[in-house]
Amino acid sequence: MAAEPLSNGAAHQSVPGRYILPVHKRPSYSANGKVAPPMLPVVDLGGDDDGRIAEEIIRAGREFGFFQVVNHGVPEEVMGAMMRAAEEFFGLPANEKMAYYSTDGKQLPRFHTSVRNGAGEEFLYWRDCLKLGCHPPEWPDNPRGLGAALEPYTAAVMAAARRVLRLAAVGLGLGEEHFEGSLSGGAMMNVNHYPPCPDPSVTLGIAPHCDPGLVTVLMENVGGGLQMLVHDDGDAGGGGTMWVDVDAAPGALVLNFGHQMEVVSNGRLRSGEHRVVTGAHVARTSLASFVWPELWCTVAPAQELVLDAGEGPLYRPYSYGEFLGVYVAEAGDRDAVMAHFKH
Ligand code: OGA
Ligand code: NI
Repeated sequence: MAAEPLSNGAAHQSVPGRYILPVHKRPSYSANGKVAPPMLPVVDLGGDDDGRIAEEIIRAGREFGFFQVVNHGVPEEVMGAMMRAAEEFFGLPANEKMAYYSTDGKQLPRFHTSVRNGAGEEFLYWRDCLKLGCHPPEWPDNPRGLGAALEPYTAAVMAAARRVLRLAAVGLGLGEEHFEGSLSGGAMMNVNHYPPCPDPSVTLGIAPHCDPGLVTVLMENVGGGLQMLVHDDGDAGGGGTMWVDVDAAPGALVLNFGHQMEVVSNGRLRSGEHRVVTGAHVARTSLASFVWPELWCTVAPAQELVLDAGEGPLYRPYSYGEFLGVYVAEAGDRDAVMAHFKH
């Protein structure tokens, strides 16, 4: 039987048992009480000193795999229209949303909710999701304005992502066009929706994961929820990790690198591991636009980074289609996924 999406019924008064995580998976379990969490780096894409911008992207990519961009060129009204259409979808009557419900991961557009995953977990996550195609575009006819909002939003977000990818390539010492073409030829969007949760301490919206593609561009209607895993690589007792809230300035977009960036850069840039905690009071909607390779595209560490640097490649070549198959089978678990591709 289809799992009932969270946003279909009345507000929840208590957390149904199947959403209650075992203690070691709960959001507070790994908090280590560090006093001053680092700030999310801000990259201003508006300037013309591309060398400096590239350097900032590389620094943030090395340390966090996460940063926020301002002067990104996505008009405020285009962002607003896309978010309103997304919120409107989740406000539709249940039967209208269910017209798009499917558990077939290949279908687009697709409305889905948390179901027991292939990794055999017995519990569910506090999230509903509408998956949209961006390139090529695939959206539901209902609500009516969604397609009209999606096209300009996607075009502007892809332009910002391409600028970041060009700058990242330069910053890595690769040709400016390294990520262009089939390596960044696909795009889709998760429209995530997290209804208020009566007890955020026992649930998660999304389990810890890295995104599969090259880069993800995220916009949210309310702040609070997304957390990134920060590695304490410093001299003083390094090796620890902590979850840090990803707080972006109003109007900024959050970017994170995905697995493919870590592979192509041969580990120089980090794919930012993240998770989503739930909130008790407001429904949060987020738009995660994924830029990724075409399925047949071969992905491998860039030759220039391996040969010139005299390093061995950390990963073997593979097709992106193979990668996605493994990613789904391992339910996005970072180490389990990458074990398949390490040299
Ligand atoms: C995702 C994701 C984060 C968020 O869709 O992969 O991590 O804040 N979303 O909703
Ligand atoms: Ni993600």
